[in-house]
Amino acid sequence: MVRILGIETSCDETAAAVVDDGRVVRSSVVSSQVDLHARYGGVVPEIASRAHVEIVDDVIAQALLEAGATWSDLDAVAAAHGPGLAGALLVGVSAAKAIALATGRPYVGVNHHEAHMYAALLEDPELEPPFVTLVVSGGHTLLIAMEKHGEYRVLGQTVDDAAGEAFDKVARFLGLGYPGGPVIDRLARTGDPTAIAFPRPMLDDGNDFSFSGLKTAVVQYVRKHPDVAVADVAASFQAAVVDVLVTKLLQVADEADISTLVIGGGVAANSALRARVADEGATAGLRVVLPALGLCTDNAAMVAAVAWWRLAADGPTSLAGGAYPSLRIGDPA
Ligand code: KG4
Ligand code: ZN
Repeated sequence: MVRILGIETSCDETAAAVVDDGRVVRSSVVSSQVDLHARYGGVVPEIASRAHVEIVDDVIAQALLEAGATWSDLDAVAAAHGPGLAGALLVGVSAAKAIALATGRPYVGVNHHEAHMYAALLEDPELEPPFVTLVVSGGHTLLIAMEKHGEYRVLGQTVDDAAGEAFDKVARFLGLGYPGGPVIDRLARTGDPTAIAFPRPMLDDGNDFSFSGLKTAVVQYVRKHPDVAVADVAASFQAAVVDVLVTKLLQVADEADISTLVIGGGVAANSALRARVADEGATAGLRVVLPALGLCTDNAAMVAAVAWWRLAADGPTSLAGGAYPSLRIGDPA
């Protein structure tokens, strides 16, 4: 058995988890900084780094405690080393390297997006590649075919805003607060998704996405119709995003001839997206894996999961390794 401590500090969540053999979550602790950033309407990098520094030791201690683990039980220590906010990433990377050095265990730096893909393997212990995965978060919108562990083909991505960014910007415009995704998701339940026919950007145009025009369409519509019900705007906007995401996910699965669909990242917590992927996947006779909500939003269990595969395939990461704010899928760190 290989027991890995994972650490995640790439944005505004400080998280630590203990995972055995890349599949069995012994503990997963997430401390959110949402309250610290909410008044600014978005994540303030300097505040994020400082908050990570203040709490990371406690979060790690809590993860070990909940797992009933000690330092000497650990076989490796992993951290997400990119992409993300430079100062925030450095906190998790430094903590992981310090623990690795002190315990003599290997350090593994992992890609945050690769970790989002691996969340599905924690949800479904039987899941193995090949699968097609839609990674939708605050910073990225990616359609990726995972042929084998560590072998990826990026088949589609956003040409401008990420899906989560669109949720956050529309919510901010509507005065709903930060982060926008969960608020719009909740509000949309009381609205009519067919009330306003917002555009479906690039729906019939390849596998890439574009969300900035949709955001502008929402702004223009609301300025023109100031009395519109906000719940209808939320539901109609969400329906447009979900429509594009799900259409392209199925399209890519068909083109790549892969019969398993996986979603990951914060936006994968969206109830309309989950329902639609489950529905359309079932209709198309595909297997669908929807990670639990806590595995979709940022967490460290996914970091420890992917680290297990990476350690077996590539060995440890050098302690000279740093943080890589612009790391992409498939980049050598
Ligand atoms: O993966 P994540 O926790 O952090 C990043 O790696 O970015 O994703 C955060 C994003 C935010 O944009 C947030 O608004 C969005 O995920 N999000 C949602 C929902 N929950 C979180 N978007 C839509 N519906 C949700 N229920
Ligand atoms: Zn993330």
